[in-house]
Amino acid sequence: QRNANVAVLGASGGIGQPLSLLLKQSPLISKLSLFDIVHTLGVAADLSHIETKAQVKGFVGTEQLKDSLVGMDVVIIPAGVPRKPGMTRDDLFNTNASIVRDLVDACAQVCPKAIVGIIANPVNSTVPIAAEVMKKHGTFDPKRLFGISTLDIARANTFVAEAKGLDVSKVNIPVIGGHAGVTIIPVISQATPSVSFPQDELEKLTVRIQEAGTEVVNAKAGAGSATLSMAYAGARFTISMLNALAGKEGVIECAYVKSSETEASYFSTPLLLGKNGLEKNLGLGKLSDFEQELLKKALPELKGSIKKGEDFAHK
Ligand code: APR
Repeated sequence: QRNANVAVLGASGGIGQPLSLLLKQSPLISKLSLFDIVHTLGVAADLSHIETKAQVKGFVGTEQLKDSLVGMDVVIIPAGVPRKPGMTRDDLFNTNASIVRDLVDACAQVCPKAIVGIIANPVNSTVPIAAEVMKKHGTFDPKRLFGISTLDIARANTFVAEAKGLDVSKVNIPVIGGHAGVTIIPVISQATPSVSFPQDELEKLTVRIQEAGTEVVNAKAGAGSATLSMAYAGARFTISMLNALAGKEGVIECAYVKSSETEASYFSTPLLLGKNGLEKNLGLGKLSDFEQELLKKALPELKGSIKKGEDFAHK
């Protein structure tokens, strides 16, 4: 089994740079291709001095986009503009929708079989946009397109471990649904190890997980949204995927994918990953009454965001 070639599109950004740094450390990568509209040659030169085997190459400007994608097995997309205080992820739609459309269009032409992982927000809409663009090229494979919602899981694990005084490395909370506000559904009833909270604490914790991105946006006071924790989460997801592609068994991550688990046509659930990407959707599992209520609140917004993305792609 040869190692994988991975491209990061938007590699010079607040997420793109630390994500590329984390990926440069993975022994599972042979080529790391860095694309952005600015600064990638410097980022690539800098990272290329690190004594790990992944070969880093920078590509800058739209005219080099296609070159950056040749031979790629996995493409991760953190390109786009981030949130400022007072903005929701959906406020990014107008700018990021066309960025994702154009980048995915190039992927569909140059590396149609690549696994594509989308970080650019609003993920609830950008993933459906990506799918529609791929469908136009006849290359859409629902096993190979993922919205990276891993940061929601990292946040849930961290906050629950803090609240209960647990070793966070042993805590695992599935987070399902979408990747914005009320569409984020932490499934604390399925936590490992099992934990329980009084209802008022459970509600506060749930809202904190749903609004954790805004906590960072406000603390950064105009300088952007989560970058370092998002880069960590993007790298965690990508490395899990690379392990699964290389034949490791039993790799499970939650991610936002084409789904028939609920009436929303894209939905995040725990997924078994394998040699072809998504091996098996593990579904919602048993939800508590409280989580059922969260699901009811999530679905209308999620369906609206999906439709908005699909309509944009068809324009
Ligand atoms: N192609 C490639 N890169 C692009 C393009 C494009 N068409 N347009 C913008 N970029 C690059 C920018 O040049 C910049 O380097 O994307 C990068 C974005 O970096 P930041 O502005 O620092 O934003 P960041 O905090 O990394 O967030 C990026 O991820 O989580 C989401 O909501 C976040 O949508 C936002 C995205």
